[in-house]
Amino acid sequence: MKKSFTLKSSKSKPLNGTITVPSDKSISIRSLIISSLCIGNTKIFNLLESDDVINTLKALKKLKVRIDKKDDCHEIFGQGGFFDEPSTSLNFGNSGTGVRLMAGLLSTSEINVTLTGDKSLSSRPMKRIIKPLQKMNVSITDKNGLLPIKINNEKKKHVPIRHTLEIGSAQVKSCLLLAALNVKGTTKIIEKIPSRDHTEIMLKYLGADLTKKKNIISLSSPNFLKPKDIKIPGDFSSAAFVIVAVLLSKNSKVKIKDVGLNFFRIGLLDVLKKMNANIKISNKRKFGGEVVGDIEIRSSKLKATNINKTISPRLIDEYPILFVAASYASGISNFSGLDELKVKESNRLISMANALSEGGVKLKLGKDSIQINGDNSQNGGNVVITESDHRVAMSMLVFGLFSNKSIVIDEMTMIKTSFPGFKETFEKLGAQIEYFQKR
Ligand code: S3P
Repeated sequence: MKKSFTLKSSKSKPLNGTITVPSDKSISIRSLIISSLCIGNTKIFNLLESDDVINTLKALKKLKVRIDKKDDCHEIFGQGGFFDEPSTSLNFGNSGTGVRLMAGLLSTSEINVTLTGDKSLSSRPMKRIIKPLQKMNVSITDKNGLLPIKINNEKKKHVPIRHTLEIGSAQVKSCLLLAALNVKGTTKIIEKIPSRDHTEIMLKYLGADLTKKKNIISLSSPNFLKPKDIKIPGDFSSAAFVIVAVLLSKNSKVKIKDVGLNFFRIGLLDVLKKMNANIKISNKRKFGGEVVGDIEIRSSKLKATNINKTISPRLIDEYPILFVAASYASGISNFSGLDELKVKESNRLISMANALSEGGVKLKLGKDSIQINGDNSQNGGNVVITESDHRVAMSMLVFGLFSNKSIVIDEMTMIKTSFPGFKETFEKLGAQIEYFQKR
């Protein structure tokens, strides 16, 4: 598709059908990184082949990890965490997870390497990983708290740390755990606010000496990870767009199969249920250590809600689509404790507030909060400035399925960082999302 095309969404008929959504981005990235540490070959089934994941895959290939693909299986030839020094820097594109997790792993891998990213990633904070890594005696630098990150192999002795995570960030936690795999002794990470635990689950699944007591994660190294097949579930964060779209549609019923239901990812379900959503989970089982199930959604009359910081890490990527749900719910919703939302692929608090108010939604923006005045009739009719943020783009396209006038997004290419086939998935259910020629 040419760059001159973007997407437009318009009022749609009921949504119906049974679908799957693309595989989980967080787990896909981890599966590549962690299997490169195994001794022997790991088979990964249903890896998400989105830009964010492919950038991590390319980085591993530059480090001379062999990765073969056959049908829906990627085979990683693990070398126990030994990497060749790359001749050029590693570029992680748009992916915060890719760059932060790989920075952790490579910081203790005894190679010299530089990590970079695109414009958006280059404006996101890196001190949150650099500081604790330096406590491990790692030689690592950033550029005024931002990318590029440079890791220097100064052959210093790395030391295990006891570190309290002040923010609820799975990327920081995972970065430190991956670094600690190469550091002799026991590293302890104390989580003040718990976050997604995909890294802990996968490390344990592959045999790492990792325990969790209350909010303290202990990892003792050295570790010898053994390969096992990994099957990636559907991404709940992608399912979230479908879930909200079906709830807001009339006479609709959709089933999404094989979606990851990790407790730390599905805060949106708790919030939506409080808002009167008709959602049922069935067929719960496990892929590796990860809980998976089917989600059945029916049209619902949503009512407003009040959400504070406590649940934030459990729905951090779902705020943009939750703001859309609140825009069409009856009553006034309040969301507070949104600081972390400002350091995502864009400042999502601002980009969503701008996009929604341009579309006629009455809202009040605070320093780290937003109040949204719900109404089942919203104007729409705007061209959304997405700030190149995939979740802003997809959320606003869902907004346009219900607004009086269509919604156009300023660009669509970044949608494939997480949800390749977004348009086709929605079209299959009956939604009106079409290509639109930019003027
Ligand atoms: C992710 C963790 C979250 C989330 C991001 C993916 C991960 O970021 O927003 O999309 O895969 O670990 P933080 O850890 O920065 O909150």
